[in-house]
Amino acid sequence: MKLAVLSDIHGNLEAFVQSLDDMKDQKIDGIVNLGDAVGYGPQPEEVLNLLEKKGIPNILGNHELAVLDKKNSDNFSPPALRALEQTLKYVTAASMRYLKNLPTYRKIEGALMVHGCPPDSPTDYLNHMSRSEIREIFIETDFNIAFVGHTHRMMLAGYDGKDLRFDPMQEDTVQLKSKYRYIVNVGAVGQPRDGDPRAKYVIWDSDRKILQIRRVGYNVDRVIALIKERGFLRRDAERLLPGIYPIGGKFINWQLRTDNQIKMLKKGEKYWLKLSWHMPPCCLE
Ligand SMILES: [Fe+2]
Repeated sequence: MKLAVLSDIHGNLEAFVQSLDDMKDQKIDGIVNLGDAVGYGPQPEEVLNLLEKKGIPNILGNHELAVLDKKNSDNFSPPALRALEQTLKYVTAASMRYLKNLPTYRKIEGALMVHGCPPDSPTDYLNHMSRSEIREIFIETDFNIAFVGHTHRMMLAGYDGKDLRFDPMQEDTVQLKSKYRYIVNVGAVGQPRDGDPRAKYVIWDSDRKILQIRRVGYNVDRVIALIKERGFLRRDAERLLPGIYPIGGKFINWQLRTDNQIKMLKKGEKYWLKLSWHMPPCCLE
Protein backbone atom coordinates (compact mmCIF):
# COMPACT_ATOMS: atom_id res chain seq x y z
CA MET A 1 0.00 0.00 0.00
CA LYS A 2 1.19 3.51 -0.81
CA LEU A 3 -0.06 5.97 1.77
CA ALA A 4 0.48 9.73 1.56
CA VAL A 5 1.03 11.05 5.08
CA LEU A 6 0.73 14.78 5.59
CA SER A 7 0.52 17.10 8.56
CA ASP A 8 0.33 20.74 9.66
CA ILE A 9 -1.59 22.24 6.74
CA HIS A 10 -2.33 25.20 9.03
CA GLY A 11 -5.05 26.84 6.98
CA ASN A 12 -2.86 26.99 3.89
CA LEU A 13 -5.32 25.80 1.24
CA GLU A 14 -2.98 26.67 -1.62
CA ALA A 15 -0.21 24.38 -0.30
CA PHE A 16 -2.76 21.64 0.46
CA VAL A 17 -4.31 21.74 -3.03
CA GLN A 18 -0.89 21.68 -4.71
CA SER A 19 0.13 18.72 -2.55
CA LEU A 20 -3.05 16.85 -3.52
CA ASP A 21 -2.27 17.65 -7.14
CA ASP A 22 1.26 16.29 -6.70
CA MET A 23 -0.19 13.01 -5.40
CA LYS A 24 -2.07 12.41 -8.68
CA ASP A 25 1.09 11.13 -10.38
CA GLN A 26 2.28 9.07 -7.42
CA LYS A 27 -0.22 6.18 -7.67
CA ILE A 28 -1.12 6.35 -3.99
CA ASP A 29 -3.78 4.16 -2.36
CA GLY A 30 -4.75 6.53 0.46
CA ILE A 31 -4.07 9.77 2.32
CA VAL A 32 -3.99 10.59 6.04
CA ASN A 33 -3.49 13.94 7.77
CA LEU A 34 -1.83 14.14 11.19
CA GLY A 35 -3.58 17.23 12.56
CA ASP A 36 -3.00 21.00 12.75
CA ALA A 37 -5.15 21.54 9.68
CA VAL A 38 -5.97 24.95 11.16
CA GLY A 39 -4.06 27.82 12.80
CA TYR A 40 -1.83 30.60 11.38
CA GLY A 41 -3.10 30.28 7.79
CA PRO A 42 -5.97 32.22 6.18
CA GLN A 43 -8.30 29.40 5.05
CA PRO A 44 -8.95 27.06 8.02
CA GLU A 45 -12.57 26.46 7.08
CA GLU A 46 -11.76 25.68 3.45
CA VAL A 47 -9.03 23.23 4.49
CA LEU A 48 -11.38 21.41 6.88
CA ASN A 49 -14.08 21.27 4.20
CA LEU A 50 -11.67 19.77 1.66
CA LEU A 51 -10.38 17.16 4.13
CA GLU A 52 -13.98 16.18 4.85
CA LYS A 53 -15.07 16.23 1.21
CA LYS A 54 -12.19 13.96 0.19
CA GLY A 55 -12.77 11.65 3.17
CA ILE A 56 -9.17 12.02 4.34
CA PRO A 57 -8.72 10.51 7.81
CA ASN A 58 -7.57 13.24 10.18
CA ILE A 59 -6.52 13.45 13.83
CA LEU A 60 -6.35 16.13 16.52
CA GLY A 61 -3.41 18.49 16.58
CA ASN A 62 -2.65 20.99 19.32
CA HIS A 63 -4.25 23.74 17.20
CA GLU A 64 -7.52 21.80 16.86
CA LEU A 65 -7.51 21.30 20.64
CA ALA A 66 -7.11 25.07 21.12
CA VAL A 67 -9.90 25.84 18.63
CA LEU A 68 -12.21 23.45 20.47
CA ASP A 69 -11.36 24.86 23.91
CA LYS A 70 -9.25 27.96 24.59
CA LYS A 71 -8.08 26.38 27.85
CA ASN A 72 -5.88 24.21 25.65
CA SER A 73 -3.95 27.28 24.45
CA ASP A 74 -2.18 27.93 27.77
CA ASN A 75 1.24 27.27 26.25
CA PHE A 76 0.60 29.33 23.09
CA SER A 77 2.80 32.38 22.51
CA PRO A 78 1.02 35.78 22.19
CA PRO A 79 1.21 35.68 18.34
CA ALA A 80 -0.14 32.13 18.30
CA LEU A 81 -3.04 33.28 20.51
CA ARG A 82 -3.75 36.14 18.09
CA ALA A 83 -3.75 33.66 15.22
CA LEU A 84 -6.14 31.44 17.19
CA GLU A 85 -8.59 34.34 17.71
CA GLN A 86 -8.52 35.01 13.98
CA THR A 87 -8.96 31.33 13.10
CA LEU A 88 -12.05 31.16 15.35
CA LYS A 89 -13.69 33.88 13.23
CA TYR A 90 -13.63 31.62 10.17
CA VAL A 91 -14.42 28.13 11.52
CA THR A 92 -18.14 27.34 11.26
CA ALA A 93 -20.30 25.45 13.76
CA ALA A 94 -20.43 22.50 11.36
CA SER A 95 -16.63 22.32 11.28
CA MET A 96 -16.49 22.55 15.09
CA ARG A 97 -18.67 19.41 15.17
CA TYR A 98 -16.26 17.74 12.73
CA LEU A 99 -13.28 18.67 14.94
CA LYS A 100 -15.00 17.35 18.08
CA ASN A 101 -15.17 13.91 16.52
CA LEU A 102 -11.47 13.66 15.62
CA PRO A 103 -9.42 11.05 17.51
CA THR A 104 -6.02 11.72 19.12
CA TYR A 105 -4.45 8.85 17.17
CA ARG A 106 -5.23 6.31 14.47
CA LYS A 107 -3.80 2.99 13.36
CA ILE A 108 -3.66 2.60 9.58
CA GLU A 109 -1.96 -0.27 7.75
CA GLY A 110 -0.39 -1.27 11.08
CA ALA A 111 1.17 2.19 11.56
CA LEU A 112 0.49 4.53 14.45
CA MET A 113 -0.58 8.03 13.39
CA VAL A 114 -0.36 10.79 16.02
CA HIS A 115 0.23 14.55 15.87
CA GLY A 116 2.94 15.12 18.47
CA CYS A 117 4.39 12.06 20.12
CA PRO A 118 3.60 8.34 20.37
CA PRO A 119 1.50 6.81 21.65
CA ASP A 120 -1.23 9.47 21.67
CA SER A 121 -0.04 13.01 22.47
CA PRO A 122 -1.15 15.92 20.25
CA THR A 123 1.05 18.32 22.24
CA ASP A 124 4.42 16.79 23.21
CA TYR A 125 7.36 17.75 20.99
CA LEU A 126 9.75 14.96 20.09
CA ASN A 127 12.52 17.45 19.38
CA HIS A 128 12.30 18.71 22.97
CA MET A 129 13.19 15.27 24.24
CA SER A 130 16.53 13.73 25.09
CA ARG A 131 17.78 10.57 23.42
CA SER A 132 16.93 8.54 26.51
CA GLU A 133 13.38 9.91 26.56
CA ILE A 134 12.92 8.95 22.90
CA ARG A 135 14.38 5.51 23.61
CA GLU A 136 11.82 5.14 26.44
CA ILE A 137 9.01 5.82 23.97
CA PHE A 138 10.18 2.93 21.81
CA ILE A 139 10.57 0.66 24.84
CA GLU A 140 7.14 1.46 26.28
CA THR A 141 5.24 1.05 23.00
CA ASP A 142 4.92 -1.72 20.43
CA PHE A 143 4.46 0.04 17.07
CA ASN A 144 6.78 -0.91 14.23
CA ILE A 145 6.34 2.46 12.60
CA ALA A 146 4.73 5.68 13.83
CA PHE A 147 4.11 8.87 11.89
CA VAL A 148 4.07 12.30 13.56
CA GLY A 149 4.06 16.00 12.65
CA HIS A 150 3.97 18.98 15.06
CA THR A 151 7.59 20.22 14.72
CA HIS A 152 7.19 21.25 11.05
CA ARG A 153 10.54 19.60 10.30
CA MET A 154 11.18 16.20 8.80
CA MET A 155 13.05 13.64 10.85
CA LEU A 156 13.39 9.90 11.01
CA ALA A 157 14.22 8.19 14.31
CA GLY A 158 15.11 4.50 14.15
CA TYR A 159 15.54 2.08 17.07
CA ASP A 160 16.92 -1.45 16.75
CA GLY A 161 16.35 -2.47 20.37
CA LYS A 162 19.68 -1.01 21.39
CA ASP A 163 20.75 2.07 19.43
CA LEU A 164 18.89 5.13 18.22
CA ARG A 165 19.61 6.58 14.79
CA PHE A 166 18.42 9.89 13.37
CA ASP A 167 18.13 10.90 9.73
CA PRO A 168 16.99 14.40 8.67
CA MET A 169 15.44 12.90 5.49
CA GLN A 170 17.12 15.21 3.02
CA GLU A 171 17.17 12.58 0.26
CA ASP A 172 14.22 11.88 -2.05
CA THR A 173 13.74 8.33 -0.78
CA VAL A 174 14.65 6.45 2.38
CA GLN A 175 14.85 2.65 2.51
CA LEU A 176 13.59 1.38 5.86
CA LYS A 177 15.41 -1.55 7.44
CA SER A 178 13.51 -4.47 8.90
CA LYS A 179 15.58 -4.63 12.10
CA TYR A 180 14.55 -1.08 13.06
CA ARG A 181 11.36 0.38 14.45
CA TYR A 182 10.72 3.95 13.33
CA ILE A 183 9.18 7.29 14.18
CA VAL A 184 8.77 9.36 11.01
CA ASN A 185 8.20 13.10 11.23
CA VAL A 186 6.56 14.05 7.94
CA GLY A 187 7.25 17.80 8.17
CA ALA A 188 4.60 20.39 7.29
CA VAL A 189 2.45 21.09 4.25
CA GLY A 190 1.38 24.58 5.17
CA GLN A 191 4.10 26.11 7.28
CA PRO A 192 7.53 24.51 6.91
CA ARG A 193 10.24 25.58 9.35
CA ASP A 194 13.20 23.81 7.76
CA GLY A 195 14.54 26.60 5.58
CA ASP A 196 12.73 25.34 2.46
CA PRO A 197 9.39 27.07 1.80
CA ARG A 198 7.95 24.19 -0.25
CA ALA A 199 5.13 22.05 1.16
CA LYS A 200 6.42 18.67 2.38
CA TYR A 201 4.77 15.33 2.85
CA VAL A 202 5.81 11.67 2.81
CA ILE A 203 4.58 8.69 0.80
CA TRP A 204 5.00 5.46 2.73
CA ASP A 205 5.18 2.31 0.60
CA SER A 206 4.42 -0.30 3.25
CA ASP A 207 5.19 -3.26 0.94
CA ARG A 208 8.58 -2.03 -0.28
CA LYS A 209 9.37 -0.35 3.08
CA ILE A 210 10.25 2.91 1.40
CA LEU A 211 9.62 6.51 2.37
CA GLN A 212 9.34 8.91 -0.52
CA ILE A 213 9.85 12.55 0.42
CA ARG A 214 7.77 14.99 -1.61
CA ARG A 215 8.56 18.70 -1.79
CA VAL A 216 5.94 20.77 -3.56
CA GLY A 217 6.20 24.39 -4.66
CA TYR A 218 3.08 26.55 -4.52
CA ASN A 219 2.10 30.18 -4.90
CA VAL A 220 3.28 31.56 -1.55
CA ASP A 221 2.58 35.17 -2.61
CA ARG A 222 -1.10 34.36 -3.03
CA VAL A 223 -1.26 32.95 0.51
CA ILE A 224 0.61 35.93 1.93
CA ALA A 225 -1.87 38.31 0.27
CA LEU A 226 -4.78 36.34 1.73
CA ILE A 227 -3.21 36.29 5.21
CA LYS A 228 -3.13 40.10 5.12
CA GLU A 229 -6.60 40.41 3.58
CA ARG A 230 -8.20 38.17 6.20
CA GLY A 231 -6.55 39.88 9.16
CA PHE A 232 -4.09 37.14 10.11
CA LEU A 233 -0.63 38.01 11.43
CA ARG A 234 2.08 39.57 9.29
CA ARG A 235 4.53 37.30 11.13
CA ASP A 236 2.72 34.25 9.77
CA ALA A 237 2.91 35.67 6.25
CA GLU A 238 6.60 36.55 6.55
CA ARG A 239 7.68 33.14 7.72
CA LEU A 240 6.19 31.35 4.72
CA LEU A 241 8.63 32.76 2.18
CA PRO A 242 11.94 31.64 3.73
CA GLY A 243 10.35 28.62 5.40
CA ILE A 244 11.93 29.56 8.70
CA TYR A 245 10.91 30.74 12.13
CA PRO A 246 11.47 34.45 12.83
CA ILE A 247 12.05 35.29 16.49
CA GLY A 248 12.43 38.82 17.80
CA GLY A 249 13.72 40.25 14.54
CA LYS A 250 16.26 37.48 14.07
CA PHE A 251 15.80 34.42 11.96
CA ILE A 252 16.46 31.02 13.38
CA ASN A 253 17.15 28.49 10.69
CA TRP A 254 16.34 24.99 11.86
CA GLN A 255 18.48 23.15 9.38
CA LEU A 256 19.15 19.90 11.09
CA ARG A 257 22.64 18.59 11.44
CA THR A 258 23.57 15.04 12.16
CA ASP A 259 26.99 15.84 13.63
CA ASN A 260 25.53 17.56 16.71
CA GLN A 261 27.53 20.71 16.04
CA ILE A 262 26.17 24.16 16.62
CA LYS A 263 27.28 26.86 14.27
CA MET A 264 26.40 30.53 14.30
CA LEU A 265 26.96 32.48 11.11
CA LYS A 266 26.61 36.21 10.75
CA LYS A 267 24.86 37.14 7.54
CA GLY A 268 24.23 40.86 7.21
CA GLU A 269 21.99 41.90 10.08
CA LYS A 270 20.62 38.42 10.53
CA TYR A 271 21.90 35.53 12.55
CA TRP A 272 21.54 32.01 11.31
CA LEU A 273 21.61 29.35 13.96
CA LYS A 274 22.12 25.76 12.94
CA LEU A 275 20.87 23.53 15.69
CA SER A 276 21.08 19.82 16.13
CA TRP A 277 18.02 17.64 16.53
CA HIS A 278 18.63 17.41 20.26
CA MET A 279 19.15 21.05 21.10
CA PRO A 280 16.17 21.81 23.33
CA PRO A 281 14.41 24.67 21.53
CA CYS A 282 12.39 25.65 24.62
CA CYS A 283 13.14 29.36 24.25
CA LEU A 284 12.25 29.38 20.58
CA GLU A 285 8.84 27.73 20.33
FE1 LIG B 1 1.69 22.74 13.74
